[in-house]
Amino acid sequence: MCGIFAYLNYNVKTERRHILEVLFNGLRRLEYRGYDSSGISIDSDLSSDPDVKSRQPLVFRQEGKIESLVRSVYQEANTIDLNLEESFSVHAAIAHTRWATHGVPSPRNSHPQSSGAGNEFLVVHNGIITNYEVLKETLVRHGFTFESDTDTEVIPKLAKFVFDKTNDEQGGQAVTFSQVVLEVMRHLEGAYALIFKSSHYPNELVACKRGSPLLLGIKESTQDVNNGTPFHDDKFLTSKGHPKELFFSSDTHALVEHTKKVLVIEDDEVVHLKDGGVSILKFDHHKAEKHGRLPRPASVQRALSVLEMEVEQIKKGNYEHFMQKEIHEQPESLTTTMRGRLIRGGSCKAKSVLLGGLKDRLKTIRRSRRIVFIGCGTSYNAALAARPFMEELSGVPVTMELASDLLDREGPICREDTAVFVSQSGETADTLHALEYAQNNGALCVGITNTVSSAIARKTECGVHINAGCEIGVASTKAYTSQIVVMAMMALAIGDDTISSQARREAVVDGLFDLPNKVREVLKLDDEMKDLAKLLMDEQSLLVFGRGYNYATALEGALKVKEVSLMHSEGILAGEMKHGPLALVDETLPIIVIATHDACFSKQQSVIQQLHARKGRLIVMCSKGKASLVCPNGTCRVIEVPQVEDCLQPVINIVPLQLLAYHLTVLRGYNVDQPRNLAKSVTTQ
Ligand code: M6R
Repeated sequence: MCGIFAYLNYNVKTERRHILEVLFNGLRRLEYRGYDSSGISIDSDLSSDPDVKSRQPLVFRQEGKIESLVRSVYQEANTIDLNLEESFSVHAAIAHTRWATHGVPSPRNSHPQSSGAGNEFLVVHNGIITNYEVLKETLVRHGFTFESDTDTEVIPKLAKFVFDKTNDEQGGQAVTFSQVVLEVMRHLEGAYALIFKSSHYPNELVACKRGSPLLLGIKESTQDVNNGTPFHDDKFLTSKGHPKELFFSSDTHALVEHTKKVLVIEDDEVVHLKDGGVSILKFDHHKAEKHGRLPRPASVQRALSVLEMEVEQIKKGNYEHFMQKEIHEQPESLTTTMRGRLIRGGSCKAKSVLLGGLKDRLKTIRRSRRIVFIGCGTSYNAALAARPFMEELSGVPVTMELASDLLDREGPICREDTAVFVSQSGETADTLHALEYAQNNGALCVGITNTVSSAIARKTECGVHINAGCEIGVASTKAYTSQIVVMAMMALAIGDDTISSQARREAVVDGLFDLPNKVREVLKLDDEMKDLAKLLMDEQSLLVFGRGYNYATALEGALKVKEVSLMHSEGILAGEMKHGPLALVDETLPIIVIATHDACFSKQQSVIQQLHARKGRLIVMCSKGKASLVCPNGTCRVIEVPQVEDCLQPVINIVPLQLLAYHLTVLRGYNVDQPRNLAKSVTTQ
């Protein structure tokens, strides 16, 4: 999805070339989110015309990869003789990666979008403006002409309209930049994070958000200012004169190499960077409702947080691709997920788990009418994998909801429900809307996310952070296995008061302790999966059959294959085989059957026999040493995986399928980390 980035240097002498590089690098860090075009705006050289006192903003936009924007900027700079060595002690610049929603990818539809000639107001936007057509009609009536097909273009034009109108009404008495933006916000509907730059307010930036994520990063040369303590804008302004660099970004990845001090901007906040200070205004909807009038902005106090993230996490290291790195680091990511949460037990203490973010809510969850797992894509699959164990240990019925489907149906959720929201990014629009819906219906809302301070982490009443580390490849891999482990731990915590299941719980705790080692073992199948990928690389389609604990593995394995290798693939519940899918079986279509040892094993043996009888082209995944039980006459290909406690087996079984998807993609020559049309964080519905 779109990524926004901005850089403002204050009293830090910076060459134009450096400013450009900071912007390009910011965009490169946001690249993983998915995009099809990009753009930036910086200031021009000072005009030789004495009447033009300020520098006009320059805009550069390009379709395609960031490197093509980089090339075009330097070419154009050369053509217009832009001095790249010119130094600025203060300068405000904005940048954007666009994931097309309105209008095809093209320079004209890329951001920054402009108010018109002279670029009086420029805007970069992540999200969707739902009432843009009405706004556009009004602005056209006031003489504005539109150049793009985007929803965003109404925003800078509206800013110019508000600026001109307010200045006329106030008889030239200056309106501030944040006042203009506040007024613009009052007219916008939809989801957005925005950054404004304007020739009327040189060296200032204003950002605001409603729905889409946005962070401010602060790099100061003085050490003591506001580190981890709340700051009021007045207090913060005491450091006004201090040299500093300020950054806005859609996520932490573009900030961490500059600073770890960040402010997570909240909905309805307007952040104004001016004269080296930061001021924050917020619409107070609550007060406005109480007094029955339109919301008014008030100055707010906020605390900076310190990022717990290292630059290395966002680099590929010795790997070719992020997806490959993330698959191979699963032994470590699982260890981090479980760190400090598993209790080994002792002479008088049972083996158990401790989930700090849930412990005060366990009683309420146990008393729930049902637990509803809600998510999208891989996160939904992870919850599906955890469902049987959650039902077994909690004794509470567990139902599954794809977030978008729950919203389409407006399915019943009530105050006796515990709704568990599962999301790697914590920013997925469908999941966020489902959260809002469940909250309005009074359910207890629990979050399971990988992103501290994400919207889902902030808006749920309690939850568990999966601690898998940054996941950059669009295909979710290590987050999936960590999500399953978190939900298994959650089931253990919920079932902790039941004596009859103690032996089972202890066996699962032992299994969790050993899980990273077993994942290390299954990763040794890498070469074998590469060979299998060579065999399958020219196929049109691949089916994956699973059931019980591994129905989710079939869905997730197929999702991985289709999203990155662009090969059609379908995960099928083996119990449904005779109700339709069997018609597809012949000697050419490759079928992976997951038949590791658990309570469903004999049923899977029967599935294999039936597929075999129809000359199916089978690849069977089985527990180590059990090949002869799944393929007695040696005619099918077998993938042998280490056996673990049945409810943890999905964590092991998905790994060979992740490797297969990865190798298929490389062999078929597709982009592994940024698959066609997909975005890492789906922040629009
Ligand atoms: O960030 P989330 O976990 O909420 O994202 C949900 C899906 O968009 C995501 O899992 C998607 O299916 C991945 N590309 C799968 O690899």
